[in-house]
Amino acid sequence: MANNLPQLILVVGSGGREHALVRSLLASPARPRVLCAPGNAGIAQDVPCFPVAADDVGALVALAQREKVDFVVVGPEVPLSLGLVDELMKAGIPAYGPKADGALLEASKIFTKKILLKYKIPTAPAGFFSAVAPALAYLRTRSIPIVVKADGLAAGKGVVVAQTLAEAEAAVRGMLEGGKFGASGSQLLIEDCLAGEETSLLVVVSGRDYVMLPVAQDHKRVGDGDTGPNTGGMGAYSPAEVVTPALLDRIEREIVRPSVNAIADEGIDFRGTLFIGLMLTPAGPSVIEYNTRFGDPETQVVLPRLQTDLLALLWAAARGGLAGLKLEVKPDYAVCVVIAAKGYPEAYPKGDVITFPPASSLPPQAFIYHAGTARNSAGQTVTNGGRVLGVTALAPTLRAAADQAYAVCEQIQCASKYYRRDIGARQLHRT
Ligand code: AMP
Ligand code: GLY
Repeated sequence: MANNLPQLILVVGSGGREHALVRSLLASPARPRVLCAPGNAGIAQDVPCFPVAADDVGALVALAQREKVDFVVVGPEVPLSLGLVDELMKAGIPAYGPKADGALLEASKIFTKKILLKYKIPTAPAGFFSAVAPALAYLRTRSIPIVVKADGLAAGKGVVVAQTLAEAEAAVRGMLEGGKFGASGSQLLIEDCLAGEETSLLVVVSGRDYVMLPVAQDHKRVGDGDTGPNTGGMGAYSPAEVVTPALLDRIEREIVRPSVNAIADEGIDFRGTLFIGLMLTPAGPSVIEYNTRFGDPETQVVLPRLQTDLLALLWAAARGGLAGLKLEVKPDYAVCVVIAAKGYPEAYPKGDVITFPPASSLPPQAFIYHAGTARNSAGQTVTNGGRVLGVTALAPTLRAAADQAYAVCEQIQCASKYYRRDIGARQLHRT
């Protein structure tokens, strides 16, 4: 392996995050070959894709063996929690991403909350319930608004920020009695509501060593001005200057380092991305959640800003060699606007033809990352999911990055195209 870096990498997943991972890995000076499973129409233009589902652990291990890959980078949470990395390691294939024990930090909000409370890491107080009556009784002891969360993975939809007691009670009943989230909702947390700005901090962790990636802000609601239902994320920007250098120091001291150490103290050998969802409350930063993978769409603004070779970074984390690695980041601002199918996050059409502007008309630092796209029998690129594309632009100012990303969005044609018009507005209006 040249430079001791792997030469054949398999990326698992099919979203904008995975497209960004593929692009950044391809940009490595080690010039690796990259494969993806299952990928999407855009990823397939860049690298060979294999039709193996991201949650088919056995088939993914078999694919990695058959193709003789020497490194697997896992994008989504589901294969991590199903033990894909455990199985790859048993097969002797190095992988980036936590094993199932580490993935539980995302797959169980109760597991995580217990760790946060045990290690006194700032987080909202919470109660845990598996029966309706005690949950309803607890609700009456707390103030409104209040947050009700299904314990397990629910694709970002298991959280209700209730503005009234009746709404909170309905959420409790819906989760515990209604079976709305299946096994994921058989236990729940009721958590005090935190007020403030949210930010996403992606931390590349290897045991007790870690590297913090640049801070980003996501836009979770579907509509402009943060209105409408929550989504997987409608856009992002980085850096998030609401996190000043002094605040970042505090976040590292009070949250990042204690979290990494707590996870290690719990006996988890975590090698992957610890995505810390933070609320910047007036009293200080507080943990909303951990995810155990790169964020989507945060990855689409964080990775293009890295000067450091992503492959070297992920490989070092997986191999336990992260100590002393110094991250280099471009000074440019990045904005990613997610183009969704109209109707998302509820019902939306699939199969609408997408037409793209010629590559020659794109700004020099623009990236069109594919998420829910596929190719139809006529060879056209069509919509195939709720979040369809992520359009990222990098520029010396946030304004210029946003303007460039939006100019590209306007040139993309698709009948069901929908996107927020205010990605980055919070920071643009602040400055
Ligand atoms: P999660 O699935 O934990 O990321 O929660 C989804 C969203 O719900 C978060 O991004 C927040 O906007 C909101 N949320 C979760 N927990 C809280 C909380 N304790 N206080 C206020 N908002 C919250
Ligand atoms: N953008 C939030 C997430 O990836 O969960």
